[in-house]
Amino acid sequence: SLPSLVRIVEVGPRDGLQNEKTVVSTEVKLNFISKLAQSGLTHVEATSFVSPKWVPQMADHNEIMTALKEDRSEVNYPVLVPNIKGLESALKVGVKEIAIFGAVSESFTQKNINCSIAESLQRFELVMKKAQEHNLKVRGYVSCVVGCPYEGPIKPVAVAKVAKAMKGMGCYEVSLGDTIGVGTPGTMRAMLEQVLKEVEPSDLAVHCHDTYGQALANILTALEYQISVVDSSTAGLGGCPYAKGASGNVATEDVVYMLHGMSIKTGVDLDRVIEAGKYISEQLGRPTMSKVARALQT
Ligand code: HMG
Ligand code: MG
Repeated sequence: SLPSLVRIVEVGPRDGLQNEKTVVSTEVKLNFISKLAQSGLTHVEATSFVSPKWVPQMADHNEIMTALKEDRSEVNYPVLVPNIKGLESALKVGVKEIAIFGAVSESFTQKNINCSIAESLQRFELVMKKAQEHNLKVRGYVSCVVGCPYEGPIKPVAVAKVAKAMKGMGCYEVSLGDTIGVGTPGTMRAMLEQVLKEVEPSDLAVHCHDTYGQALANILTALEYQISVVDSSTAGLGGCPYAKGASGNVATEDVVYMLHGMSIKTGVDLDRVIEAGKYISEQLGRPTMSKVARALQT
């Protein structure tokens, strides 16, 4: 049987925009976030407290989170934090939830956060300790769970090890990232079988990029293992600047359409997400990547 309820973690304002070459204004980002928040999404990843030299698009993180401090809704606005410096900045602007992000591949970890996997886990321990002192919720990402742009296929046992480490240090949930969208239900299944030996399905999420058009099938595979949290990005935006060939995330519109079609509740209003996607696509000056939005837009 499949879960009857799925929580969607919208990553559009962060993953969706971080790879955009042209800097999107803070105002447009905030409008986008506000439209997403009004669509019934409970988790909207809003920005990253990473180095602006590394990811210029996220340089307005202080302005974004200062504006969201005034938001009185129940929506959670997690942000990416790579190190103590990022956490300190996030705390200053009242962030309540962060996500630390590691990977299974040494080469990707070096390219993405400039350290080894072992060093990254040590950094995360420090971030976790301080975050807990401030009562922050901490989510953990593991990237390259089925394939790495530099190392190719990844061993499922290696994913299980990093996922267990992230959960063990106190992450309330570990999101398994197919960063470059190379997974298929076959490789997803093999990976999940190993990870589920170490982490409960209720503590896992999946984060599927759609480069090879496999994301919905991969998500359905995860649901079959009782994983009930799915990351997605409105309009199918996204990609990681440090993962060569990574294209967009699975589109939130497409995930919602599939789940509702299977009578799985999400609490998300499809029409409103389509509106949000229409807005950001117009601002970026390019058609949406969501097939559902394309089919339903008039
Ligand atoms: P580094 O160069 O090794 O850091 O970068 P450093 O500690 O040596 O500092 C260098 C400079 O950066 C210094 O400034 C620091 O102050 C500054 P300078 O003295 O040269 O003027 N700095 C910072 N500034 C602002 N905020 C910070 C911060 N830390 C240092 N937090 C670092 C290490 C981690 C900072 C860098 O590699 C970085 O920012 N990486 C982020 C890369 C990134 O954001 N990638 C995309 C997100 S991951 C992803 O997309 C995958 C995911 O979606 C899941 C999936 O799809 O699989 C999550
Ligand atoms: Mg991603």
